[in-house]
Amino acid sequence: MSDSIDLGAFPQDFAWGTATSAYQIEGAVKEDGRGPSIWDAFSHTPGKVDNGDTGDEACDHYHRWPQDIALMKQLGTNAYRMSIAWPRIVPDGSGPVNARGLDFYDKVIDGLLEAGITPSVTLYHWDLPQALQDRGGWTVRETAEHLATYTSAVAERLGDRVTHWATLNEPLCSGWIGHLEGRMAPGLTDLTAAVRASYHLLLGHGLATQALRAAAPGAQIGLVTNHSTVVPATNHPEDLAAAARMDGHTNRWWLDPVYGRGFPTDMQALYGVELPERPGDLDTIAAPLDWHGLNYYFPATVANDATGPVPFAREVRLPDVPRTGLDWQIDATGIESLLLRLTNDYGVRKLYVTENGSAFPDTVGPDGAVDDPERTAYLEQHLAACARAVRQGAPLAGYYAWSLLDNFEWAYGYDKRFGLVHVDYATQHRTVKTSGRRYADIVRSHRQLHA
Ligand code: IFM
Repeated sequence: MSDSIDLGAFPQDFAWGTATSAYQIEGAVKEDGRGPSIWDAFSHTPGKVDNGDTGDEACDHYHRWPQDIALMKQLGTNAYRMSIAWPRIVPDGSGPVNARGLDFYDKVIDGLLEAGITPSVTLYHWDLPQALQDRGGWTVRETAEHLATYTSAVAERLGDRVTHWATLNEPLCSGWIGHLEGRMAPGLTDLTAAVRASYHLLLGHGLATQALRAAAPGAQIGLVTNHSTVVPATNHPEDLAAAARMDGHTNRWWLDPVYGRGFPTDMQALYGVELPERPGDLDTIAAPLDWHGLNYYFPATVANDATGPVPFAREVRLPDVPRTGLDWQIDATGIESLLLRLTNDYGVRKLYVTENGSAFPDTVGPDGAVDDPERTAYLEQHLAACARAVRQGAPLAGYYAWSLLDNFEWAYGYDKRFGLVHVDYATQHRTVKTSGRRYADIVRSHRQLHA
């Protein structure tokens, strides 16, 4: 595959961004009235996170945000995707709003705008207030309603300056990994809980969309979902059927209802769990959006697994294919086909790649430099694939590299580094990696094309 990027494919006003999320970078978990979240509880439970790492300090972005905005400027980016920590704004999940939590984001937003960087704000990136988990979390309808109330509080304060909003990040991870596989907070392994959570997450998305429309008229509202292309391991009918099930589990379950098709009936039959549906919910979930955010990391090759867990399809590890430090297969054609699928199959009119990136074990050289050729190649290959998708009609308006900084990579802790900027966690010293400099070159070259 050619790594040369057809930069002319990207429109002049393309958003060149980086992305982060609150719990992964902020630290300061007990400051200014923040309440505990399910990730505080999960990461402090022995055995749940590698090395016993927690987000207690993370990248200390809560105190170092001016320096981090300066890094974004240094990279030449004009956009930044961040999330708001619900437990900073409504520490108990419902009830009184904590003004000091809003004050923090107010300052960050002003800092970004002063630097000429457009913020794209995600309201829920997995850090549910623990108080709501104690009342059933996403398995109960009230949590979706509380998301909307919290959303109103944030939009009323920031909506005069923030124009780009996402309701949820990767509901698949909250729903399936958090409630079915147990590898993320809240750590459940219960199909009924998982299906109910998936439903309420999407309902929450719809209700939060309504809240945003009311509080911030003119806002550009989207949803961020993560997807994989699914390839059958063989042409055997059982593997083809397994691939269709995996596609339903990973892709259709999260897209069909949002684009007005309801929850896929084949998957409802497979799960065998009654949806907690009330009249009008499907319309709420399918509220028209202004954009869709695709998070793409890897494809999935799957075979039938009749005795395995839902969806009875297991991932097959292909030999001799390139992989990241997380053992994720590298295949940039996946981002191209998913962008085209969202365009052609779901009719999305405006797309962003809201996350894309790779973890590799970086080393700091004797001169203090961090050379990361593999991450640099991954970035180039995926941007080249995005450009191909645009040439074929995908309305791609921006790309946010995951991630600005090395950060708390959930159950993998701090060992897995995704940053364009290296973080020395002992000193909090930041170093722009080779991949960060390459990204800055790409952004600069694109700008020059349109100068
Ligand atoms: O770090 C995560 C992020 O929080 C959500 N998307 C995938 C990233 C890499 O695993």
